[in-house]
Amino acid sequence: CKGFNGLDKVLLRHPRGSSAEVYLYGGHVTSWKNERREELLFLSSKATLKPPKAIRGGIPICFPQFGSHGTLDQHGFARNRFWIIDNDPHPFPTNTWNKAFVDLILKPSEGDMKIWPHRVALGPGGELMLTSRIRNTNTDGKPFSFTFAYHTYFSVSDISEVRVEGLETLDYLDNLQKKERFTEQGDALTFESEVDKIYLSTPTKIAILDHEKKRTFELRKDGLPDAVVWNPWEKKAKAMADFGDDEYKHMLCVEAAAIEMPITLKPGEEWKGRLELSTVPSSYCSGQ
Ligand code: BG6
Repeated sequence: CKGFNGLDKVLLRHPRGSSAEVYLYGGHVTSWKNERREELLFLSSKATLKPPKAIRGGIPICFPQFGSHGTLDQHGFARNRFWIIDNDPHPFPTNTWNKAFVDLILKPSEGDMKIWPHRVALGPGGELMLTSRIRNTNTDGKPFSFTFAYHTYFSVSDISEVRVEGLETLDYLDNLQKKERFTEQGDALTFESEVDKIYLSTPTKIAILDHEKKRTFELRKDGLPDAVVWNPWEKKAKAMADFGDDEYKHMLCVEAAAIEMPITLKPGEEWKGRLELSTVPSSYCSGQ
């Protein structure tokens, strides 16, 4: 159906009540709601939803380059290209039983035969599953290298009440300090100023605890060893035209990514990345 500015979007509804919205522009998930119809992703009230600008919020896909780690524009081109619905997808290894899903493909440019499939699925427990497959279809023998991130904007009640577990004691590159390498302290992360860090070799599971909402987000990832944690805070928020001045209080980006070690595919090789997001009431976690 049609979304903002006449852009095409796909609505996924699971019979148990959860839902998701995916814009073909960017292959971008803009909404993920649980069975109680509560929105779980942050989408800026100032998001333009006007190509060629990327949508501010939801889950932009940063590919084939994360950030400024390369020669392409910031975060690569996948987030500001039109993806296509794939009605006849190559079989995905994940089963589709009891899931609502859509298959998309990205053709980078006219005449270019590279086709990158991407599936967005909702599971029976309201979990949101993203799977991307990147294949090097070059016939000239050239390898293809890329970095990647699912740039997920989580909706949180109050950033100063939020904790992130799973990144303690890990090494990270700090984008605010010339991408230098540091080691995180031993406590769960809390937030009181701008943060823009790339955690390295992270565990497959990371949790975001929202004390006020009594909700915990769980991220489970495969093929994505790094995790970016970003909140622009007050000053940067004011400097962004497509972001409300106070909205930084209600969002946190935790991005499953492959950045430090770019992925290199020889012709014919394929990479698969996967992210599963789910929520559990906080009372079940960490004694909260
Ligand atoms: C994060 C980066 O992933 O995305 C930040 O680590 C960047 O450095 C942020 O500012 C937003 O990027 P953009 O291009 O969507 O404004």
